[in-house]
Amino acid sequence: MSFQAPKGVPEYLPPRSATFLAVREAFATAAGNAGYSYIEVPVFEDTELFARGVGASTDVVSKEMYTFADRGGRSVTLRPEFTAGVMRSVLEHGLHHGQLPVKLWATGPAFRYERPQAGRFRQLQQFNVEAIGSEDPAVDAETIALAWAGYQALGLTRVRLLLNTLGCKQCRPAYRAALQEFLRALDLDEDTRRRIEINPLRVLDDKRPEVRALVENAPLITDHLCASCKAHHDRVRSLLEDLRIPWEDTPRLVRGLDYYTRTTYEFDHPMLGAQSGIGGGGRYDGLSEDIGGPALPGIGFAVGVDRIIMAVEAENDDRPAPPRVEVYAVPLGEEAARRVFTLVHELRAAGVAADMAFDGRGLKGAMKGADRSGAAYAVIVGERDLAAGTAQVKDLVSGDQTALPLAEIVTTLKEILTK
Ligand code: HAM
Repeated sequence: MSFQAPKGVPEYLPPRSATFLAVREAFATAAGNAGYSYIEVPVFEDTELFARGVGASTDVVSKEMYTFADRGGRSVTLRPEFTAGVMRSVLEHGLHHGQLPVKLWATGPAFRYERPQAGRFRQLQQFNVEAIGSEDPAVDAETIALAWAGYQALGLTRVRLLLNTLGCKQCRPAYRAALQEFLRALDLDEDTRRRIEINPLRVLDDKRPEVRALVENAPLITDHLCASCKAHHDRVRSLLEDLRIPWEDTPRLVRGLDYYTRTTYEFDHPMLGAQSGIGGGGRYDGLSEDIGGPALPGIGFAVGVDRIIMAVEAENDDRPAPPRVEVYAVPLGEEAARRVFTLVHELRAAGVAADMAFDGRGLKGAMKGADRSGAAYAVIVGERDLAAGTAQVKDLVSGDQTALPLAEIVTTLKEILTK
């Protein structure tokens, strides 16, 4: 019997897994540079947290959650996203009583029972950033700039930033009513009519061309903002302008989670086809109260690591695989294998990534291993070298080979490699 990974669950094997780490690293560096600290939150939480936090009417909660009863009969859910869990943790541990905003990043898998297709997975990997406890539009712009820096560090040049605002408690109800009135007058199917009553904004987001045509003249949130939401939005945009981060105003941008208020945004990559969203986020000024906390504003985003890997590959598909090690040692004979084992250990201790041929491989097979490892140098030690206290150092690019004293190999290679 043989097994396969569960449907819709991507795996990252070498050498591709190096890109996975590079994506995390790019965003972790950007987050660290902006003063965000790491938080490790649970992979599963009380189901009710997501029902209340993300919103019971969203697809994520109503159709896509991995929910089960644990052995104690509690209903738990594998996190479909990070924001609700991060807010829960901040409130539970009182981080909001310290300096504000509380700035945190987290990363790892999230789970959504979606129909798997290219770029849409059931176990998806996110890099998530939250700034909790500030209403300053500069924090909104900071989160956008942070994500932008991450994409740039990865060499992505075709990322688009789509920007919108969803208004607040004050102005959204009137907009929602105006939108509902407009939508109710249209000739729409039963399902969509139901959606008008539950979440009319989602109708604006319908991908079907016939629905798109019908909603073309629907009222837009940007024409219904209260003065403070308008000022907030204008400020975010002028700060982005100052940073020279280009964006597209997208007044129909609707996010799939219920907690959003004011600033919302998505990052999109044009080479990814239907699943082109490589990140998204926004403000969630009511989330804390929705899950039983005090009034506490927040903003953040998550980027989709899986899709960013695809974008990096799409923009730059002939990238060479990164080398696995810098030095590959080839012992010929049992005595040499023993000496080389220590040599490799010493190289590693000196900070030089090193590997060696095992299983008594002959010269030909071992040199093939050296090439495959991506190492810049091979160190070959035969019985005669051993007797003479030398090793052959071969430059695997030029093919040049020189004999060096065994005792100097570590310092010499370290010097050459750090040049
Ligand atoms: P989201 O838009 O649901 O937002 O997800 C963020 C990103 O995760 C998406 O842009 C996409 O790249 C990736 N993603 C989502 N679902 C899948 C999937 N099934 N397969 C592959 N990638 C996927 C959130 O999750 C919010 N919690 C973001 C946030 C943080 N808002 C405020 N703070």
